[in-house]
Amino acid sequence: MTRRILVTSALPYANGAIHLGHLVEYIQTDIWVRFQKMRGHECWYACADDTHGTPIMLRAEKEGITPEQLIARVWHEHKRDFDGFLIGFDHYGSTNSEETRDYARDIYARLKAAGLIEVRAIEQFYDPVKAMFLPDRFIKGECPKCHAKDQYGDACEVCGAAYQPTELIEPYSAVSGVAPVRKTSDHYFFRLSDPRCGAFLREWTQPPRVQEEAGNKLREWLEAGLTDWDISRDAPYFGFEIPDAPGKYFYVWLDAPIGYLGSFHSLAAREGLDFEAYWNAARAAAEGTEVYHFIGKDILYFHALFWPAMLRYAGYRTPSGVFCHGFLTVNGQKMSKSRGTFITAESYLRHLNPEWLRYYYAAKLGSSLEDIDLNLDDFVARVNSDLVGKYVNIASRSAGFIAKRYDGRLGDVPEADTPLPAMQAAAGTIATHYEAREYGKALREVMALADLANQYVDLHKPWEMAKQAGRERELHAVCTVALNAFRLLTLYLKPVLPRLANEVEAFLNVPPLAWQDAERLLTDHVIQPYRHLMTRVDPKAIEAMLGENRESLAPPPAPVRHGEHQQHAAAVETPSAPTPPTARAGLISIDDFARVDLRVARIVQAEQVEGADKLLRLTLDIGEETPRLVFAGIKSAYEPEELVGRLTVMVANLAPRKMKFGLSEGMVLAASDERGGPYLLAPDSGAQPGMRIK
Ligand code: 2FM
Ligand code: ZN
Repeated sequence: MTRRILVTSALPYANGAIHLGHLVEYIQTDIWVRFQKMRGHECWYACADDTHGTPIMLRAEKEGITPEQLIARVWHEHKRDFDGFLIGFDHYGSTNSEETRDYARDIYARLKAAGLIEVRAIEQFYDPVKAMFLPDRFIKGECPKCHAKDQYGDACEVCGAAYQPTELIEPYSAVSGVAPVRKTSDHYFFRLSDPRCGAFLREWTQPPRVQEEAGNKLREWLEAGLTDWDISRDAPYFGFEIPDAPGKYFYVWLDAPIGYLGSFHSLAAREGLDFEAYWNAARAAAEGTEVYHFIGKDILYFHALFWPAMLRYAGYRTPSGVFCHGFLTVNGQKMSKSRGTFITAESYLRHLNPEWLRYYYAAKLGSSLEDIDLNLDDFVARVNSDLVGKYVNIASRSAGFIAKRYDGRLGDVPEADTPLPAMQAAAGTIATHYEAREYGKALREVMALADLANQYVDLHKPWEMAKQAGRERELHAVCTVALNAFRLLTLYLKPVLPRLANEVEAFLNVPPLAWQDAERLLTDHVIQPYRHLMTRVDPKAIEAMLGENRESLAPPPAPVRHGEHQQHAAAVETPSAPTPPTARAGLISIDDFARVDLRVARIVQAEQVEGADKLLRLTLDIGEETPRLVFAGIKSAYEPEELVGRLTVMVANLAPRKMKFGLSEGMVLAASDERGGPYLLAPDSGAQPGMRIK
């Protein structure tokens, strides 16, 4: 029977770059989707950028662009990174779409009609200068417990205490710097505390809809009692206005997950699918369509309580399953910018092959909520030994003989004494593991089969047969068996290594491999010449990648998060309690710092550099007789015209550097990270060219 399945991954927030933490989820989901497609099922993978909220609004304002411009830029960056990792979305949309807005309104109207929306006056901190209510993360002040200064409104990063923003000592707005005032405003709530929701969710949150472990956690929450959920925010806000409440906007959980519907709507329109058959409660039940959400454990509450209750009482179908995974650690620790292990997708792709990471993650992934560790030494060893040493090796040891001696034609397969029957028989077990998201188990099976195939080749030694007269038939058979073993391994690895599998399909001269192709073998068939399929991981490339991601300065503030929940799928290190200076590595003395001659510089001229993608040529006045010429990598962020006349900061005693385009006589300072940039530094007004910065 052909199943009809819709699969989603959590929508990444549009205020930051995709990093290796995110990719655990997208790779996990993509493997499952590709597996389902190989099985012949109708399986669709929809996702989108999560684009709304205060952080996006403020960041766009800071960059001097509209939120729409910001989210359009980030969408392209995200899509580029996902494509780079071979994440095969059938549609990648945006929550800032008409479809998502229409579904948000519809769900809201139906919940309201069901008596599940309530309005309540809420007192919150308000920035009187910016005329806006402040999310917790935009209020800072002194920690009420340990008295550390400049802590966020929800938790202290020094002592770890959690508190309400109202408990901060001398709070100030992180947006304008002024002291916030308290102000009351009406907020809209989804009444999750309604007995109907509790009763429904107690029944709904059972395995296999959720994992055993997730079910236990959910029941704890249910027993503690569900609280109503604030679904509105006041203007100014970037998002969807609530239809019957001017000046109020839908807040994250009545907006972001609805992007699943919006994105699928666009996909359905494009592919001619019946949207209602997937999302209307009655139709979905009648037609047996399935919907699965892959998520990180930090958003379990929303996806397994809030979201199904919302759907249920708005007349939509509820998910068939919510599949929750743990966080990523790197070398056993939280990802850290100072160690260089906060690795962006973009920088990984600059240095390493995406299929190596797909394989490594898959080998580590099971169906549990446990965190997974990317141990970089193990990564190198595992990829080199499994993929290059065991798998690709089988083809490279046998393909040459077929080309040279048999005109590229495979021969027959002997009836007995080959590993092929066992390899074919494993298709069912491997499929069961993929279906259950036990990828680690599936790959262990596959590698055991690769061992069998290698043992077969080692036993028959085709390279010796080739030297002995009269063994032509045997040699042909052994190489045909080896390449059939290679074909079966490729088929089983295809959900994990889709690009490599495509290359193997071209080499074997066969149509795209589907799961049922395991039932047959390839004999008397012409193949293409063999070209090397995969290189070994070079540990130097890993070092280069870490170096690029390492920030030697103090850790930057934690990313601004969308509402109360964490950035999904990543355990990100936040600065811990201060350690005494002597114990901290990488510190410099004041004298070290004084050796850097920082000067205020006026940009007198800024020009494009022919043939350079990243550079602008700046002519800088720092009060010397002749201005300095500096090449700065800021082309992506600035038009030359807008720079002329501006003051900035330059390193004046940097040894001149010969570049392809000329001599660079210094360096200008700019800030950037995965959230954006470069942003040129600028002194306060009053500073004059040539002034020393100290
Ligand atoms: O946790 C997050 O990253 C949010 N952007 C929400 C993702 S899930 C969904 F419901 F959109
Ligand atoms: Zn504290």
